Amino acid sequence: MKAAIHRKYGTPDIVSIEDVPCPEPAGDEIQVQVVATSINDYDWGLISGRPLFIRLFLGLFRPRIQIAGCDIAGRVVKVGDQVTRWHAGDEVYGDLSGGRFGGFAETVCCKAHQVASKPAELSFEDAAGIPQAAVLAWQGLNSAGPLRDGLEILINGAGGGVGSYGLQLAKQHQVNVAGVDSGSKLAMMQELGFDQVIDYRQENFARLGQRWDLIVDTKTCYLPGAYCRALKPGGTYATVGGSLWKMLLILLTRPFYRLLTGKNLTVIALRQNLNLDEFSKLAVAGKLRTVTDGPYPFAELPQVLNYYLTAAHQGKIIIRIGQNADAS
Ligand SMILES: NC(=O)c1ccc[n+]([C@@H]2O[C@H](COP(=O)([O-])OP(=O)(O)OC[C@H]3O[C@@H](n4cnc5c(N)ncnc54)[C@H](OP(=O)(O)O)[C@@H]3O)[C@@H](O)[C@H]2O)c1
Repeated sequence: MKAAIHRKYGTPDIVSIEDVPCPEPAGDEIQVQVVATSINDYDWGLISGRPLFIRLFLGLFRPRIQIAGCDIAGRVVKVGDQVTRWHAGDEVYGDLSGGRFGGFAETVCCKAHQVASKPAELSFEDAAGIPQAAVLAWQGLNSAGPLRDGLEILINGAGGGVGSYGLQLAKQHQVNVAGVDSGSKLAMMQELGFDQVIDYRQENFARLGQRWDLIVDTKTCYLPGAYCRALKPGGTYATVGGSLWKMLLILLTRPFYRLLTGKNLTVIALRQNLNLDEFSKLAVAGKLRTVTDGPYPFAELPQVLNYYLTAAHQGKIIIRIGQNADAS
């Protein structure tokens, strides 16, 4: 099979598409023919070995996992002898980052619980975008308890994966959602349904004098006090990613801000594949779609990784791996 291999840490240029032996499933695993995949920050971390501390877990000098790729959609080919839930031919999708990754390949093996059923109405390409970004968005939106009508919400870094799914998940309720990103993405965000869009290169949302009930952040570019200022009384700020030291500062100072202001600051830890069945239902009902950048051919993965690093993409970058990605 063909796979995108990185034998050392480095830039996207060290990734090459090569022929490697096809993995065989263990007893509790399934073998999946990957039809489509998407790119996430975790994949880039695996390839770059950055931030450096992650090499303590991934291999100090050489990566132990040499095929990245966490979000996949594909067809089950074989199942291990302990697997009863899946059968050859089943269409599945999921986030493999809780295991050995491997989705940047024509075939991958994963634990049976790492995937959910992909409805026939949901294309492989749309499904491949959902797992990690939609779960992070859902976790952020529900960090202060279930969403309810009437809330005013802001999503920072709203033109990417988490933001595009986050808007649609939030809009299952009667809420007002503002989105912050760079100017080139604002038209797409308005078209998707954001009630207000803010160009972070022109304006600092924390200094606008506006207040929100809930802020979901993918970038964590300000200090905790700025986020507290932008929250209404009792409001919640939830970061899913961004500057690591600012996220650490949030974790350390959150008890003080809670005591002094009554506002909540929280850091979200990804719970892989949470709620995928609910997302499937929303997608089938036409209420959740993937804002797709691509799909790009698998052969172009190294170049597409370079493009991902420019952050010019809108929504999710999708890579087509299987030959009949459009068949669903
Ligand atoms: N918590 C966890 O367990 C966990 C697990 C996996 C991933 N993550 C993190 O979750 C996040 C996933 O986000 P995503 O997939 O939506 O990323 P994405 O697709 O790259 O989108 C991020 C958006 O933010 C914009 N942006 C950059 N700097 C900004 C700023 N200062 N203010 C506002 N917007 C800014 C980018 O556009 P421009 O650059 O063009 O401006 C881009 O459109 C990442 O931070 C990732 O590291 C967390």
